[in-house]
Amino acid sequence: MSNLAENIAETDSRSREEFLADVLAGLSTRPKTLPCKYFYDERGSILFEQICELEEYYITRTELALLSDIGAEVAELVGEGVTIIEPGSGAGVKVQILLDALLHPRKFIPLEISLDALEASTKELKQKFPQLRVIPHQGDFTDQKDLKKLPLLKEKSERRLVFFPGSTIGNFTRKEAVEVLNNLRILAGENGLVLVGVDLLKDRNRLLDAYDDHLGITADFNKNLLVRINRELDANFDFERGFDHRAVFNEQASRIEMHLVSASDQSVEIGDQKVEFDEGESIHTENSHKYSEQMVVQMVTEANLQVVRDWTDEGGDFALFLLEPLLA
Ligand code: AVJ
Repeated sequence: MSNLAENIAETDSRSREEFLADVLAGLSTRPKTLPCKYFYDERGSILFEQICELEEYYITRTELALLSDIGAEVAELVGEGVTIIEPGSGAGVKVQILLDALLHPRKFIPLEISLDALEASTKELKQKFPQLRVIPHQGDFTDQKDLKKLPLLKEKSERRLVFFPGSTIGNFTRKEAVEVLNNLRILAGENGLVLVGVDLLKDRNRLLDAYDDHLGITADFNKNLLVRINRELDANFDFERGFDHRAVFNEQASRIEMHLVSASDQSVEIGDQKVEFDEGESIHTENSHKYSEQMVVQMVTEANLQVVRDWTDEGGDFALFLLEPLLA
């Protein structure tokens, strides 16, 4: 971990510049947007964990239960001594279920933006799985530069399982999702496998409730993006009065969208820039696509992958897909 720590300062200033550039770029498009990957600062990560406990937010508990149900089958298909790679590993809770089920997993390579989460999860996993080599990497899995730093290309012979749970794939547009799947295939290598979690299309009212809970935690999670921009980028969003949380189901695009809607005409300073908002104008902060199994099969095929096996919970809410490269 020591070489990780030495790079923190440099990473922080570079990421602040990137954050500022991304925010200003997003707020200069019409409609205005902000990238959802910035939700997860310290408070955002805590709020997200609270979301996962909400009655309305069925995703996390459904996926966790499904993962433990299918663990033995996955283990058999994956085989012994695998190396697991998890882009965006967070607190590393889900992978523990997988590690419990797999047959003598050899290595775990988490890739995570948050150094705090990376350090904490590495420590915990080393304790709980003393036989496992944990090789943490700080980075952004949407950034090719960071993916290339992973120590993979030299180790052609190892069997790899790329783990991408949580329906994170849903945060990307369909086109981007195919690119992400392509990257996952490359990370897995020719002899590797990819395990992806996907939230399935369902009744729109359940979807809307899951993204607009009655306790207002999701609203706080959404607004926290502005709190973070104020703090880290020297901005003055009036997030308490000025912007309202809104969840919308976009049927055409098969997704839940989160927005922050300006409650009045207002102007906001971000660093040395000024951004104007009309009353009712929204900042589109997140997409959460909801796919049918057919749609997933189409996308993975476009990414040169094929389904080895897939599993769904009894309610048909969530699916896990085990994928392998389509060899040309
Ligand atoms: C972590 C991307 C799966 O899209 O459901 C939760 C994030 N946003 N509530 C999702 C989220 C609003 C979540 N993912």
